[in-house]
Amino acid sequence: MKRCWIIYNGSLVNDKFRDQAELVHDAADRASVSATIYKNYEIMMDVTQKVESLPDFVVFLDKDIVLATYLKSLGIPVFNDPEVIERCDNKTKQAIALAHDGIPMPRTIIAPKVYPNFTIRDSGYYDRVLQELGLPMIIKEARGSFGMNVYLIETKEQFFEKTESLRGIDYLFQEFVASSRGRDIRVNVVGGQVVAAMYRHSETDFRANITNGGIAEIVELTDAQIEISLQAAESVGADFAGVDLLFGKNEEPLICEVNAAAHIRNIYNVTGINVADAMISYILEVIE
Ligand SMILES: Nc1ncnc2c1ncn2[C@@H]1O[C@H](COP(=O)(O)OP(=O)(O)O)[C@@H](O)[C@H]1O
Ligand SMILES: [Mg+2]
Repeated sequence: MKRCWIIYNGSLVNDKFRDQAELVHDAADRASVSATIYKNYEIMMDVTQKVESLPDFVVFLDKDIVLATYLKSLGIPVFNDPEVIERCDNKTKQAIALAHDGIPMPRTIIAPKVYPNFTIRDSGYYDRVLQELGLPMIIKEARGSFGMNVYLIETKEQFFEKTESLRGIDYLFQEFVASSRGRDIRVNVVGGQVVAAMYRHSETDFRANITNGGIAEIVELTDAQIEISLQAAESVGADFAGVDLLFGKNEEPLICEVNAAAHIRNIYNVTGINVADAMISYILEVIE
């Protein structure tokens, strides 16, 4: 019998992180894999000591990239790979990978590093960004989930207030895709296949995230939406991914972002598909 560890972040008290791990655990049970759920801090990174009794693989649902790297260094296959988690965890690095591979996406400018005690406000840099992207525009922190660190900037005042407050933080500027206001599609990809998808729409916010008030329903994907989702997952190197798609001017799909540890509860409730079943069977195939 194969053994696996399922790791999530123990410092996040919201039940949805434990629930996510349980969904993967249920899928492992169904595949006769002996799974143990661990909070990240339950695995002591006592790096100079020898570790006994390692599992056959790890399903890594967290962004503790150092822990994922450590486990990989012990020779355990980690899904997603720590490098993929790191790339996806940082929307700026992810944008570089997607753009490099020519994946259709909104025009994106990555903000330069500015030390928190300094400013480049009078350098002319921001005026160039305003000129290139216009208003409204999106400002997105490199790190963040559930729409929390994504901002719709409508005025110059908001723009300069935000850029000043983000000194010291990685972020990007992005064209606001007005045709996609309050709506997107979440596509779950596993091992180069689309496993489930849902349409999300919000009446109250430009962001379609369910945590932010979005409502989800089943959707039939177009060929173009399938193709771009698979390309995006492949571009970042993800074995499994939650790909967010926007609707361009003529409804053509654009990549919004790729999540390496996408939550799978909502898509399960909407579609009845437990994406973790596909994740486990894919992993069992590749570690053979
Ligand atoms: N460039 C954009 N134009 C229009 N809407 C966007 C754009 N970027 C993000 N959004 C909306 O904001 C939501 C959150 O953005 P996303 O990049 O997916 O960050 P998060 O990781 O917080 O989910 C998206 O699901 C989408 O509804
Ligand atoms: Mg998202």
